[in-house]
Amino acid sequence: MSIISNSLKRIKPSPTIAVTQKAREMKAAGKDVIGLGAGEPDFDTPINIKKAAIKAINEGDTKYTAVDGTPALKKAIAKKFKIENNLNYSLDQITVGTGGKQVLYNAFMATLNKGDEVIIPAPYWVSYPDMVLLAGGKPKIIKCNEEDSFKLTAKKLKKAISKKTKWLILNSPSNPTGAGYSKDEIESLAKVLIKNKKVHILSDDIYEHIRYDNFNFFTIAQISKLKDRTLTMNGVSKSYAMTGWRIGYAAGPKDIIKAIGKIQSQSTSNPSSVSQAAAVEALNGTQSFIRERSDAFKKRRDFVVNSLNKIKGIKCLRPNGAFYVFPSCKGFLNKKTKLKTDSDFVQRLLEKANVAVVQGSAFGLDGYFRISYATSMENLKKAIERIKYFCERLS
Ligand SMILES: Cc1ncc(COP(=O)(O)O)c(C=O)c1O
Repeated sequence: MSIISNSLKRIKPSPTIAVTQKAREMKAAGKDVIGLGAGEPDFDTPINIKKAAIKAINEGDTKYTAVDGTPALKKAIAKKFKIENNLNYSLDQITVGTGGKQVLYNAFMATLNKGDEVIIPAPYWVSYPDMVLLAGGKPKIIKCNEEDSFKLTAKKLKKAISKKTKWLILNSPSNPTGAGYSKDEIESLAKVLIKNKKVHILSDDIYEHIRYDNFNFFTIAQISKLKDRTLTMNGVSKSYAMTGWRIGYAAGPKDIIKAIGKIQSQSTSNPSSVSQAAAVEALNGTQSFIRERSDAFKKRRDFVVNSLNKIKGIKCLRPNGAFYVFPSCKGFLNKKTKLKTDSDFVQRLLEKANVAVVQGSAFGLDGYFRISYATSMENLKKAIERIKYFCERLS
């Protein structure tokens, strides 16, 4: 009999991490691979944030802290919610974890009973369904169409809600599509949710600051009738190029926040004290580089989208946020190319063209692939040339 638990058998390793690892191994074996699989900014953590961490170390800020975050960081988070989202939270409505990932994991562990359903619009971030499964819940995947810019519509949401629905996950701007929900779109979903009083909403706002074309960010907790049922997750990983520091946070109903802290107290305890000090500076310090970096991402987005749409057989929407695009590869899945699935496409692209991307099916929608353009323009130019050469020889 296997030593591995039944609950672990329900889940699979993260496919995005697997692609990044494969590209790393190919590189180590001497291959000239361009990795467009990773979900992290290529920029460095800003210097003022690094200095705050060094100061914290030198001043002995190296001990256990309050399990769910230092008062200083919680205050900075409360201020952020107030200034940027017009949301008021007291400190006991805020929790800090080791990355947004841990906060979400704890939230599901803290709230799901066997059979509870979680509505997950697809394409989705790869970890949502597996986290739900691990917590004993049931992911209810709702496929969203390219015609709707891969976003959930009120009609689909209404149909998806059942007596067992505990959570709806919203992620805007989205990983993997980059699509952001407008205020109107959120309001139309909210109408459905206001009628269904039992559904809680988990809003994953981790890409809030990476947005383009004057896209106005709006988060569902701003709808006052839903605030008491919404857990808003955010973090410093993407906005402040701090993926390795592992600080994420959430704000929401006190009972959920307390339950998340309880799990954390029996698992990891507090997130790193040094990283928390750095996160205080990230939130309270200058924000000027956010715009500069978003401008750099925008140039890359435009280059990638324009170039991809020139390749026969590929169609790519122009998203208004995050650093991903989600083009279709359906034009290449046929008898002539002998490619049946997006996974076949992605695998052959890696083998023949040395470009690593992730298949759409990993995000719950077949026939697409995700490109992360959080890499240098030089890399992107090379990668696009290779993709073009590869696709021309396929069709
Ligand atoms: C949509 C989404 N949510 C949450 C996370 C978790 O981020 P972190 O744990 O680095 O804070 C990621 C990271 O890739 C993400 O893409």
